[in-house]
Amino acid sequence: MPLPSIEAILGDGSRASADAPPIPGYLEQLYWWAYVHPRAVVVFEREWLVNAILFGNYRRLRDAALADLGERVQGRTLQVACVYGSLTPRLCGRLADDARLDVIDILPVQLDNLRRKLTPDERVTLKRVDASSLSAADASYDQVLLFFLLHEMPEVVRRATLREAMRVLKPGGKLVIVDYGRPTRLHPLRPLMHQIFKHLEPHAFDLWRHEVRAFMPQDLTPTAVERRTWFGGLYQKLVFTR
Ligand SMILES: C[S@@+](CC[C@H](N)C(=O)[O-])C[C@H]1O[C@@H](n2cnc3c(N)ncnc32)[C@H](O)[C@@H]1O
Repeated sequence: MPLPSIEAILGDGSRASADAPPIPGYLEQLYWWAYVHPRAVVVFEREWLVNAILFGNYRRLRDAALADLGERVQGRTLQVACVYGSLTPRLCGRLADDARLDVIDILPVQLDNLRRKLTPDERVTLKRVDASSLSAADASYDQVLLFFLLHEMPEVVRRATLREAMRVLKPGGKLVIVDYGRPTRLHPLRPLMHQIFKHLEPHAFDLWRHEVRAFMPQDLTPTAVERRTWFGGLYQKLVFTR
């Protein structure tokens, strides 16, 4: 079956102003309770809750992503999408004096929430941008981070997001992805996760059925790939080198 067009999935732009991208349809339909509703931030901006949702794995997944970005983060880093918890404040704490961090998200409420968690810092910029259509120039970042974003996206948006992430990376730059992976067949939480995905996060099944590599652009193939899994395969980290 052909994939629906990206315009069909991202929405018709009716809520977009001239210079602001529209809120994607899948966020409003599937994730309104987690990100879009103004009270979502009040409920979910609790590290213990994020940790509980990840069955106690939040800190090690956060720290694994940070470890790949570096003890001292150099150059220009792009974090694609805000996250609840302490990942971005800790990333800011690792920035070298002349490093830069840009964080993009499509939802103003999430950018405002992140702004409240950060100490003002001229090295750090928050921008309202759609992950599938970045405004940055080709080869302009040393590192790009995607933390638990891809599983939420319909396939066409996921493909566009990965293409954009690879496009904006400099040759030799790193794309760090942390997300769900395929749990082992007899994983005790598999039936529960199946129900959660079925009812709340239907696009996440794609990461059980396919390797993330299957969604990468054919013409921007990475020169190296590292993969590590945790918790019986339910979580994975990938590091692609451009
Ligand atoms: C990174 S994911 C989930 C992360 C994880 N559950 C957490 O917060 O700990 C959630 C974020 O992705 C953002 N997002 C989803 N689709 C997006 C897109 N197409 N462009 C930019 N941001 C997007 C949402 O607005 C939300 O802030």
